Amino acid sequence: MSIYSHLQKRDAPPVTLSTLIEMKAAGERIACLTAYDASFGALVDAAGMDLILVGDSLGMVVQGHDTTVPVTVDHMVYHTRCVAAGVGRAFLVADMPFVSYALPEQALKNAARIMQEGRAQMVKLEGGAEQVRTVEFLASRDIPVCAHLGLTPQSIHKLGGFHVQGREESAAREMMADALTLQNAGADIVLLECVPTALGAEITSELSVPVIGIGAGPDVDGQILVLYDIIGVTPGRKPRFARDFMAETGSPLDAVSAYVAAVKDGSYPAPEHCFS
Ligand code: KIV
Repeated sequence: MSIYSHLQKRDAPPVTLSTLIEMKAAGERIACLTAYDASFGALVDAAGMDLILVGDSLGMVVQGHDTTVPVTVDHMVYHTRCVAAGVGRAFLVADMPFVSYALPEQALKNAARIMQEGRAQMVKLEGGAEQVRTVEFLASRDIPVCAHLGLTPQSIHKLGGFHVQGREESAAREMMADALTLQNAGADIVLLECVPTALGAEITSELSVPVIGIGAGPDVDGQILVLYDIIGVTPGRKPRFARDFMAETGSPLDAVSAYVAAVKDGSYPAPEHCFS
């Protein structure tokens, strides 16, 4: 039993991948947030989050780097294991870090570590058509996969900065095609980061798997943010899509609960958090 079990909602059944698929079908918005340690894992879980991501954003918000590139598989295993100790209900997803999934066999070995040692229920990896072989390889070996499209922070040195993706028609068509190809290859969730609202809506309506957005507009199946952005401790400039719920509430638990409520009732994201 976890030392956080008193916070866990005993009456609420655990969220599974099937729950998330049913939520998409029912039009119920999926609330998602990052966490990096057991205490916040327990708090975020107790606030009613459906999905918790141990993001490699930990390289920036926990380790203080200016990109996610320095994060290693050992870091992800350690932080995922910490978060898992606090979580009782939410579905737990963890990032595969930079170059840890460049080849399918390497991806399988590292995903297995993140699931067996870290206790994640799904791994997330960044990239489009170039990841199809890896996604197929993982999916055919019972590794649930979330495919991250749009702004992919691990490619920051190629992208040249944190910019909105898919604004040009050709880039939008390519992202749409990638999303469908990754779904057909076995991806169970697609995550879109920093894309125009119209493209977020189009990809969501074309895909049968849940689509989670961060800066992808209101018409996706669920929203995700970085924990530190909603509790007012963002180091440096706050991204456009972030909203500081701590400023509106006053305690971390109330802030995270207010975020869940705002995702569920559709009041987050508002137009000022979206891109055209
Ligand atoms: O690493 C992370 O926290 C993420 C989210 C921003 C989606 O990938």
